[in-house]
Amino acid sequence: ELGEYPHYMLKEIFEQPETVRNAMRGRLDRDEATAVFGGLNLTPQQLRNMDRFMLTACGTSWHSSLVGEYMIEGLARIPVEVQYASELRYRNPPLSPSTLLFAITQSGETIDTLAALREMKRKGHPTMSICNVVGSTIARESDGGIYLHAGPEIGVASTKAYTSQCVVMALLALYFGRLHHLSYEAGLRIVEDLEALPDQIETALTSNRVAKEIAAKYVDCDNFLYLGRQYNFPTALEGALKLKEISYIHAEGYPAAEMKHGPIALVDENTPSVFIVPRGGVYDKVLANVEEIKARGGPVIAVVDDGDDRVAELADDVIVMPTVADFLQPIVAAIPLQLLAYHIAVLRGCDVDKPRNLAKSVTVE
Ligand code: M6R
Repeated sequence: ELGEYPHYMLKEIFEQPETVRNAMRGRLDRDEATAVFGGLNLTPQQLRNMDRFMLTACGTSWHSSLVGEYMIEGLARIPVEVQYASELRYRNPPLSPSTLLFAITQSGETIDTLAALREMKRKGHPTMSICNVVGSTIARESDGGIYLHAGPEIGVASTKAYTSQCVVMALLALYFGRLHHLSYEAGLRIVEDLEALPDQIETALTSNRVAKEIAAKYVDCDNFLYLGRQYNFPTALEGALKLKEISYIHAEGYPAAEMKHGPIALVDENTPSVFIVPRGGVYDKVLANVEEIKARGGPVIAVVDDGDDRVAELADDVIVMPTVADFLQPIVAAIPLQLLAYHIAVLRGCDVDKPRNLAKSVTVE
């Protein structure tokens, strides 16, 4: 089943052009410039009346929910809140009845997410699930849902499920945007951006060789920082989680500009900062943050758009990714970060598919 790949994680990373295509299959409608879903089980009228979304999840699925928050607020203008499932259940937030809950989970069996879903249902909120495993508990217990169709994810570190979750978030942003204010032209642009995505992921995978070289250079570092802003703040969190769970290296993700409020004290010549800095709305701002790290003697590994030379001048090492619309950057930028974590973990002799202390689905609270 592994074929040419030494580990499931690497195999699943390389499946992503296909899994992302599967997440979109039959769900893009060019004529209407929108997304279509088969299983939401609410009418467009009911969905339009939902004026607030609560997204709940754990781990990597929580990161894709954060990406969803930026996408849905940015493109559909609906207020979104993201809560760790383990916190939502006990927080008891005051919410209007028109709050729609989304539970995001690869396995559909995570007990914290299930408990949060049940609590929100008990309070009378309509609930949706975004799951990979068909027929899983959370898929069955929610009122409606969207499957990822990513195929079984065996590696404990989530990779292809993450990018598919982000794609579903983009589809939701498109759908709800078109229910509300988004024009036909704006919707069509998003459809076209999404259609181009599988090929761009294919291109991003060509960074494998460079990621391996960079991994060899930094393999002995004990601390890493991951920094990005806006759409790529969650990318930073996800990059850090991938590294820590499979290589056991301490890594922290931060919004790049938060560094100067404390964590920059950690920077020294043995603490690399991985910056996600593709061109786009916050490019110049992140570039300034790169300079702040370099001024303190910290090595910088930068994920940049192909052809970018401004960051290359500052950074110690560069990984290129294809240029995509801002809202799709977290999907494409995840690829080099998955590869970097993978190669570092392999070089350190770790069992990447079955990291210590972790299980694929967490069924205790
Ligand atoms: O199956 P789920 O998406 O509900 O799992 C949630 C987390 O346990 C999971 O994402 C975990 O953080 C992964 N090991 C991350 O790679």
